[in-house]
Amino acid sequence: MRMVDLIEKKRDGHELTTEEINFIIKGYTEGKIPDYQVSAFTMAVVFRGMTERERADFTMAMVESGDQIDLSQIEGIKVDKHSTGGVGDTTTLVLGPLVASVGVPVAKMSGRGLGHTGGTIDKLESVNGFHVEIDNKEFIDLVNKNKIAVIGQSGNLTPADKKLYALRDVTGTVESIPLIASSIMSKKIAAGADAIVLDVKTGAGAFMKTLDDSRELAKAMVRIGNNVGRRTMAVISDMSQPLGYAIGNALEVKEAIDTLKGEGPEDLTELCLTLGSHMVYLAEKAKSLQEARAMLENAIKDGSALEKMKVFLSSQGGDASVVDDPSKLPQAKYIIDLEAKEDGYVSEIVADEIGTAAMLLGAGRATKESEIDLAVGLVLRKKIGDQVKKGEPLVTIYSNFEDVSEVKEKLLQNIKISTTKVEPPILIHEEIT
Ligand code: URA
Ligand code: CA
Repeated sequence: MRMVDLIEKKRDGHELTTEEINFIIKGYTEGKIPDYQVSAFTMAVVFRGMTERERADFTMAMVESGDQIDLSQIEGIKVDKHSTGGVGDTTTLVLGPLVASVGVPVAKMSGRGLGHTGGTIDKLESVNGFHVEIDNKEFIDLVNKNKIAVIGQSGNLTPADKKLYALRDVTGTVESIPLIASSIMSKKIAAGADAIVLDVKTGAGAFMKTLDDSRELAKAMVRIGNNVGRRTMAVISDMSQPLGYAIGNALEVKEAIDTLKGEGPEDLTELCLTLGSHMVYLAEKAKSLQEARAMLENAIKDGSALEKMKVFLSSQGGDASVVDDPSKLPQAKYIIDLEAKEDGYVSEIVADEIGTAAMLLGAGRATKESEIDLAVGLVLRKKIGDQVKKGEPLVTIYSNFEDVSEVKEKLLQNIKISTTKVEPPILIHEEIT
């Protein structure tokens, strides 16, 4: 087989065979096919697309390019949740203990990553003593015992995707539904889940800015999952403004605790109940989505979700007393309100720019080497549709430096106020199975 023939075949709009796709992925992972040929190939995919069969094959070829996590020693159906980006997305911190409290095994492998705030592991490390450096046996034992554990990323998962994503990034070939969908799904499948719930964000703060694009991506991922034998569904949810109020590491842990107590932001609570219901249903712990939702609502009401958070934190070395006393979380030195400059209704909160403001405070990583300040971040005091009076706080800034004028300016530029009444955005647009 020659790579040049496969590039031409795709360029001319033909479907590649399974063997041809395996040849490309294997050859690229092993360094036998050079970057320039693979970049020509990905550009051909950008223009020509891939059939449903090609997408499934492409995904599995990437899964098989490296290690796959074996979760077979964990009892029950393992359901993983994946969110496609977003700002201040606290859902993972809430959903883990919430679904675990009704018996769904949560075996989470997580990373740190770059972004507006840290990853799930960074956030959890704002709890004193909490650590994810556990070995595989302890990880599996903890999930069997408590139904929940988080382990740091290890092993060599989907090396083909790592190489390919880096190449796409510098060759203008990220924007392709088949390439994005197979990239995301390969990582989830290699991580060992039996079933997958996808939270595909849409809007200004999301990877996909329009509902049409988000729907197409969601459908593509759901098809790939189901075609390779993992039950998969997707929820398309709003990211035109940040989810919940808090954007920051310790601040989001506190927000997650509030939500598990039933005192969280309305949108975060609703999204967690929706995603959680699908997880419980796919794990076959409930016969219907309604039953699943009732179980989760009850776990919040009777305190079992909160109790599960304590067990989870303490079983990985964390000081679980933060759950009852969040003032034990890292605290910022300065707490400064940003006040509204005029009367009106909040009409826009540009999510990614608000995320950048949190980064200016030190809440996230710009490069792999950057240090995160766990204490700092933002708490929105108003969301889209809320009425606001001049002088009322719009955002509370948690900072470890006193001069936050740059942050304030960025926030003011990106929180728009209108004189006419504004409807809040729809939170959940569609569910795709
Ligand atoms: N996120 C991924 O993991 N892969 C893509 O291709 C795009 C976004
Ligand atoms: Ca949040």
